[in-house]
Amino acid sequence: MKYNLPKYILPALLAIAFGCSTAKQDITSSPKNKTSIDRKVDSLLSLMTLEEKVGQMNQYNGFWNVTGPAPKDGSAAKKYEHLKKGWVGSMLNVKGVKDVKALQKIAVEETRLHIPVIFGYDVIHGYKTISPIPLAEAASWDLEAIQRSAEIAAAESAASGLNWTFAPMVDVSRDARWGRVMEGAGEDTYLNSVIAAARVKGFQGNLGEFSLAACVKHFAGYSFAEAGKDYSTADMNRNTLHNVILPPFKAAADAGALTFMNSFNDIDGIPATGNTYLQRDILKKEWNFEGFVVSDWGSMGEMVGHGYAKDLKQAAEMAANAGSDMDMESSGYIEHLSALVREGKVSEDKINDAVRRILKVKFQLGLFDNPYKYCDEAREAATVGKKEFHDGVLDVAKKSIVLLKNEKNLLPLKKQGQKIAVIGALANDKTSPLGSWRIGADDNTAVSVLEGLREYKGNQLTYAKGADVVLGNPQFVVETKINTTDKSGFAEAIATAKSADVVIMVLGEHGLQTGEGRSRAELGLPGVQQELLEAVYKANPNVVLVLTNGRPLIIPWAAQNVPAIVEAWHLGTESGHAIAQVLYGDYNPSGKLPMTFPRAVGQLPMYYNHKSTGRPGGDAPTESVFWSHYGDIDNSPVYPFGYGLSYSKFEYGKVKLSAGSFGKNGKITVSVDVKNNSTVDGKEVVQLYIRDLFGSVTRPVKELKGFELTEIKAGQTKTVTFTIDEKTIEFYTANNKWEAEAGDFKIFVGGDSATKNEASFTFTK
Ligand code: NOJ
Repeated sequence: MKYNLPKYILPALLAIAFGCSTAKQDITSSPKNKTSIDRKVDSLLSLMTLEEKVGQMNQYNGFWNVTGPAPKDGSAAKKYEHLKKGWVGSMLNVKGVKDVKALQKIAVEETRLHIPVIFGYDVIHGYKTISPIPLAEAASWDLEAIQRSAEIAAAESAASGLNWTFAPMVDVSRDARWGRVMEGAGEDTYLNSVIAAARVKGFQGNLGEFSLAACVKHFAGYSFAEAGKDYSTADMNRNTLHNVILPPFKAAADAGALTFMNSFNDIDGIPATGNTYLQRDILKKEWNFEGFVVSDWGSMGEMVGHGYAKDLKQAAEMAANAGSDMDMESSGYIEHLSALVREGKVSEDKINDAVRRILKVKFQLGLFDNPYKYCDEAREAATVGKKEFHDGVLDVAKKSIVLLKNEKNLLPLKKQGQKIAVIGALANDKTSPLGSWRIGADDNTAVSVLEGLREYKGNQLTYAKGADVVLGNPQFVVETKINTTDKSGFAEAIATAKSADVVIMVLGEHGLQTGEGRSRAELGLPGVQQELLEAVYKANPNVVLVLTNGRPLIIPWAAQNVPAIVEAWHLGTESGHAIAQVLYGDYNPSGKLPMTFPRAVGQLPMYYNHKSTGRPGGDAPTESVFWSHYGDIDNSPVYPFGYGLSYSKFEYGKVKLSAGSFGKNGKITVSVDVKNNSTVDGKEVVQLYIRDLFGSVTRPVKELKGFELTEIKAGQTKTVTFTIDEKTIEFYTANNKWEAEAGDFKIFVGGDSATKNEASFTFTK
């Protein structure tokens, strides 16, 4: 689709600036043609007033229903005037071709320089057709499926006018109290890194009309919010920052991510938005990142709340000097930045750098070539909700399910002649499976578990709610109130269970009990669900517990007593189909936990790759009290990181190494035989961990360094091989740089992080 060229004079201006005759050719932006983009950016910059430059650094939330009259007063009118003056570089939360087009038209046809706006939105795990929450997708350990899921999200939302997603979130999350663990890839740095790269590639593709610019967030440290309480301070040392938090960001930058978002938290006493060390020194200098950094919502203004800036003006000064390029909804830049430049508090060079970065991304997206690139109504109608998107999200949903326990041969379910009781409000819910952060999707659009199960006709199905999880109709912006008293449905649930062969209980968190602002101090089954579970189990112990939740839950009783447990997260639009296919064995589960399931909240933060101590607790010294442990609970989790079963049975042979040592530029190979000792074909995630026995700084007890998701036919054995070289063992050392240190290492290969299948090697420098 072509926009009306004569009305759009920027090409002519650029042509003048370049001294070129064919303006149309010269504004054609291609991601491959970086130097030419840089020249165009410089030319355009030379035409801009200071106010127009600052305008590019300003992002507003959607402020006006474009189908109605233009706003006449209040802040909406002011924002509207700013848009017309070219003082709005970006908008968020405007979606749909009609609205995006109307606003873009103002930017490119009514402003002096006709610079297009970039439209951002939280396309976190889908737009209308919703994929599993990112934590669930991480449980698939399937990078192709994860990339495909991001491609679907990009294609659908780009068809709806959007250009930029505020994803992926790559915050390494060790504390399940923090509600946003649902939005990332869990507790491990390596897994977060490879998934970050896959998601960036999926969103950005070839930067064509079905792609979005990615925004890697939250830079940095946000997930370390103290005690899991959202927005709290993130207290960590430099060693943790570099070895744990930063690598996924680096991986995303290396994968070509066009933008970053900073974060709400302070780190080392400095709010991330005003943090020069993070944004200028590490991201832009050390990593050579050429895209731009957007603040988080209002995070510039919140530096006042942090007690770091005395007012919004000083916050704007600090943010601009620290390298925060675009202001999301604080209005700090638009109100104060020009004055700050005139007063000499922020140099115009810094402004130029920020604006260059922003314009460059707009060129890379092709918005100068065609500002309406994403605004095709026919494409929108033909694309949103496509069948192939549903097939794609179903595929990744099945792959995200983790089988935690399967005794008494309860699973897979028999397809004929069974009486099956389905219990739990979440079984009959078509909104909760969409999870948190799915603001583009409509309520009631997911396939419920009950609907999925009903498609299998051979068994007799009865349903009883048992108890509500939350009261009323939960809303995205409102706190969900948990049902802690109403047990009036228990009797019906118990009676239904009594007359069944198998009971499927769907329990857990409502989709809106996780996500931003949804920290929880108690992590058991919310409300009266634990009581319901125990009462039903008493009536009929043949219980299959299907958990739907956005974070690890504390379920020691269930793990001990209930014979079968399936972790089904919030799986998105096709949730019920995916769960039913796994329960009936039409899909053999292969997911593995991306976060540890603790025994008690008191163990948090809990993660497998913790440091050792002078008094380590692996093998408990029973005769002594003075070792690293709790007096009232085991150190071990209920389920470790990387854990997950299958309907197949995998057996690991001993770890074999090609040599006992290697030196600089050398390598060794590690191999292990994995046998599928069952009659069912299946997939296994073979995981490689190392332990660096001593270093210039203390090292974790184990670190994931590789994995292979491999299909093994029934009865067959596969040899899985990994290579270990200097890169594998590098870390951020006492020299404040990434390097490999000579020393002794252990290596472990197995089906989860608790594996004891080990060998040893030495690295000689
Ligand atoms: C705040 C959240 O922290 C961030 O992740 C999100 O992208 C922005 N709001 C925009 O909605």
